[in-house]
Amino acid sequence: MEVFEAIHARRAVRKYLPDPVPKLEILRILDAANWAPSAMNRQQWEFVVVTSRDTIREMGENYRAIVEEFTRNWDPSPLRGSLSREEFIRYAESYGNAPVVIVILTDAADSDDLRKANLESASAAMENLLLAATARGFGTCWMTGPLRGEKTLRRILSIPDTKEIVAVTPLGFPAGDPAIQPRLDPELMQKVRWVG
Ligand SMILES: Cc1cc2nc3c(=O)[nH]c(=O)nc-3n(C[C@H](O)[C@H](O)[C@H](O)COP(=O)(O)O)c2cc1C
Repeated sequence: MEVFEAIHARRAVRKYLPDPVPKLEILRILDAANWAPSAMNRQQWEFVVVTSRDTIREMGENYRAIVEEFTRNWDPSPLRGSLSREEFIRYAESYGNAPVVIVILTDAADSDDLRKANLESASAAMENLLLAATARGFGTCWMTGPLRGEKTLRRILSIPDTKEIVAVTPLGFPAGDPAIQPRLDPELMQKVRWVG
């Protein structure tokens, strides 16, 4: 798939088929992530690949509690696509039934500058991951909501304090086509300022 096609085809997928993702496909997608640019070429991202149903369920219980709390007084919002609150809670508790969940880590930093560089580099890797997955026919959903339950997430996945959790994504074959979330300013009239 050509890169512009992948960029336009990518969606936040919140419902998955239970079919497993072959390990070679996961590695191919993570290789694309690993080819991201990084500040000072430190390539300091790491990927935790979760395929255990029990572990994904445990992560889902943690995330569901967060979503329940977070959406208690929440008006319908484009943040969760076209899902109702109940559907969103169901997504949270099972990560949409995805057979794989990937957690992206970076080195913990002791200065704001380094932290910013680490997060930006790992985010570049994350976007590569999402686009590569799309190109191979898989769905993903960039998520930082689960980080609200960081302490429990760290315990479940044995993530040490030397690592910062950047984001989480399910990975699997999409069950259906999620609604397209329209772009703000698609004609780029407000978002672009030309100088020169
Ligand atoms: C930094 C970041 C954090 C996000 N966190 C969550 C999340 O916690 N849960 C979720 O369901 N979607 C999350 N999303 C997905 C967005 O809601 C989604 O990208 C947005 O609604 C646009 O839809 P699209 O990705 O289909 O274009 C996140 C996206 C980004 C970039």
